[in-house]
Amino acid sequence: MMAGRVEGKIAIVTGGATGIGRAAARRLAEEGAKVTVTDVNVEAGQAVAEELGGDALFVQQDVRQEADWQRLMDTVADRHGRLDILHNNAGILATQKSQFLADTDLEQWRALQAVNVEGVFLGCKYGVAAMSVGGREKGGAGGGAIVNMSSIAGLIGTAGAVAYGASKGAVRQLTKSVAIDCARKGLGIRCNSVHPGIIQTDMGNAVMSLSGGDPERAWAASIRRVPMGEAGQAVDVANCVLFLASDEARHVTGAELVVDGGITVI
Ligand SMILES: NC(=O)c1ccc[n+]([C@@H]2O[C@H](COP(=O)([O-])OP(=O)(O)OC[C@H]3O[C@@H](n4cnc5c(N)ncnc54)[C@H](O)[C@@H]3O)[C@@H](O)[C@H]2O)c1
Repeated sequence: MMAGRVEGKIAIVTGGATGIGRAAARRLAEEGAKVTVTDVNVEAGQAVAEELGGDALFVQQDVRQEADWQRLMDTVADRHGRLDILHNNAGILATQKSQFLADTDLEQWRALQAVNVEGVFLGCKYGVAAMSVGGREKGGAGGGAIVNMSSIAGLIGTAGAVAYGASKGAVRQLTKSVAIDCARKGLGIRCNSVHPGIIQTDMGNAVMSLSGGDPERAWAASIRRVPMGEAGQAVDVANCVLFLASDEARHVTGAELVVDGGITVI
């Protein structure tokens, strides 16, 4: 049997209970990684770990909580002794209906930054520390790959997603700073961001309900924006995550991988 593309690697996928995170956890496991799925949604997260079987594990985690990151890294270290891949995927779209500037209050702004930015910051911090254990400078294999979830909303303006867009822009920039820091320190750790467009997940459905109109019509209108003529599926994003997580991307760091069917090209 041919070895998988991430055979034997130790991986964490945050927000892996549903949508893109679940698809990424599946693809990584299919290609030979030992995956720990985390989420605040315990029931769905456990179901994903059961479905993956083998060495897969679910750990309840709120990415906003530093203590949860510490506990997660301790669990993975006890079980596997190292970490190779961290996919900082967990994210939220909104805590209230409208996200136009005038409708966005400070509470909503902060709630989004807490999950989408602070959660990824903590992930990078604890991820780099875990990947550095037994690292190159200590003569070990070391190194690893961090894949941060941004969005096309982190690349272009979105009037109806002010706080979300700002959070995803911050993820894009954070990724580049972490990439350079790790590269200059010779840690062998790569850090890249993924920028999905319109993807058919629960969050995708929530986007379509934001305007308050008919979600089916909103989907149709959104798909008309996609030059390739269809919405993306979670697995389309998961395959990009897999590539960046694998050694195939060994010379890729600080990069933005856009997976949007061409929306941002025009
Ligand atoms: N669906 C899209 O169109 C789209 C487009 C661009 C970017 N994204 C990004 O992709 C990622 C996944 O989105 P999705 O579409 O699969 O959405 P989703 O809502 O299906 O999945 C997000 C997961 O994150 C979990 N989560 C939320 N808050 C958390 C927290 N504090 N700690 C841990 N887990 C938490 C949720 O429980 C859920 O399982 C998000 O970062 C999102 O911003 C999605």
